[in-house]
Amino acid sequence: MELPELQVAVLEAADTQAHRPVPEIADETGHEPEAVAGAAFALEAEGLVTVTEQTSEQLGLTDEGRRYAESGLPETRLYRTARDTGEDPLLGEVLDAAGLDGEAVDIALANFARKGYGDIDSGRVHVDPDATPGDDPEAAALDALAADADPDGPVDRLVERGLVERSTETTRVVRLTDDGVTALMEGVEATERVGQVTPELLTSGEWREVEFAEYNVAAEADDVRAGRKHPLRRMADRVKDVLVGMGFQEMQGPAVDADFWINDCLFMPQDHPARTHWDRFALAAPAEIDDLPADLVDRVETAHREGVGPDGEGYHSPWDEEFARQLALRGHTTSLTTRHLAGEALGDLEPPQRFFSVEKAYRNDELDATHLLEFYQIEGWVMAEELSVRDLMGTFTEFYRQFGITDLSFKPTYNPYTEPSFELFGRHPETGEQIEIGNSGLFRPEMLDPLGVEADVMAWGLALERLLMLATGAEDIRDVHGTLVDLEYLRTEEVTY
Ligand code: PHE
Repeated sequence: MELPELQVAVLEAADTQAHRPVPEIADETGHEPEAVAGAAFALEAEGLVTVTEQTSEQLGLTDEGRRYAESGLPETRLYRTARDTGEDPLLGEVLDAAGLDGEAVDIALANFARKGYGDIDSGRVHVDPDATPGDDPEAAALDALAADADPDGPVDRLVERGLVERSTETTRVVRLTDDGVTALMEGVEATERVGQVTPELLTSGEWREVEFAEYNVAAEADDVRAGRKHPLRRMADRVKDVLVGMGFQEMQGPAVDADFWINDCLFMPQDHPARTHWDRFALAAPAEIDDLPADLVDRVETAHREGVGPDGEGYHSPWDEEFARQLALRGHTTSLTTRHLAGEALGDLEPPQRFFSVEKAYRNDELDATHLLEFYQIEGWVMAEELSVRDLMGTFTEFYRQFGITDLSFKPTYNPYTEPSFELFGRHPETGEQIEIGNSGLFRPEMLDPLGVEADVMAWGLALERLLMLATGAEDIRDVHGTLVDLEYLRTEEVTY
């Protein structure tokens, strides 16, 4: 029989009686364990060997265990030092002399008592002269493990003390079958097979003559876990693609911004409850922006104080520039929209315009199944001469349809800066519940006027995490984003739409 060289080596190394571990054969034949496993599987397919898995228990010292193996168990050090210091010495002195402090003190005292090494009375250590810490089975087992020998002592106790850790190890073992024996007796020869096409083989034309090894693509192999994009990041990329496809341009802007851009330009009165320190993450240093565009500040201030238009529509609320200059993490990405509409980001923009961003916003919310303290908003706006609620609904219908979400509902709501305003809901595919996925509306003239915008503007903020939940069926936002996310989910989740 002819077999590839490595298979011959593995066949010859295999035994009918002993199960030989793959790593051992690898050592012996000087090949990589993966290659040996591959050869063993090929031989198994021919019925010449069997390959099985064996699990064995390993015992290993923890860092603490290793320290004690070197310097002695704390209770032994306490005993020996006390014994050598004289008659009933003071505990504090013994501890100092034994170099025991912190946690080690409690450990020493507890085990000193448990092992009957003596007692401590009125702050003095009285050792039992007949105690024999030198014969302590725990110390013996610890020493054995440190020397890589089999411990025959109270291993469980050492595990409980956190000095030893158990782990299991799985190894593949190979055993020769009867057919394997027959093959070896009849004689097995190594074929020269080429495992890899090289440039030399190709240029020399030698590839015509050689025999190529067959690949067993069905053989088990180690999982290779390469880096991969987080499902939420992939959803963000997808959202960007969809919006660019719908004719939108991406906005850029700072995550830390002045309250002016985050709130004042949105006609949010400075005494609005959402502007209290409860909701925002304020910056300590620097606490405020140096300068704001003076003209714009004047117009915004007038709108807040006196209202807008011939009737002076508005809240007529007090306004303070100092307050507007305060810096905070943006509570929504609508700050990018105000920067763009006011001409601060890209200069004056003429209608029609479509802009979006998929960026983080930060809110001092209560963390729960549907709220995170930092989350991604899909911000967007359209500026045109004539816009209505139909345009808004049509845009959402079109956008969400690309993610397979077709049963949207709209609920009238209130925003200080839009009129009319709509909350957007989508049906959760698993629970059937209507969950809120966004907020939107047509910007009020009281907001647009001071920014110098004459056309209509419709705008929205949608939650990226909620979109991912609807698209994947996840029921808890913490299952898709954050520190509690299951690694297996990150390794395998596909973002499909
Ligand atoms: N800023 C709003 C939010 O964070 C969303 C929104 C943006 C609403 C623009 C209307 C217009 O919920």
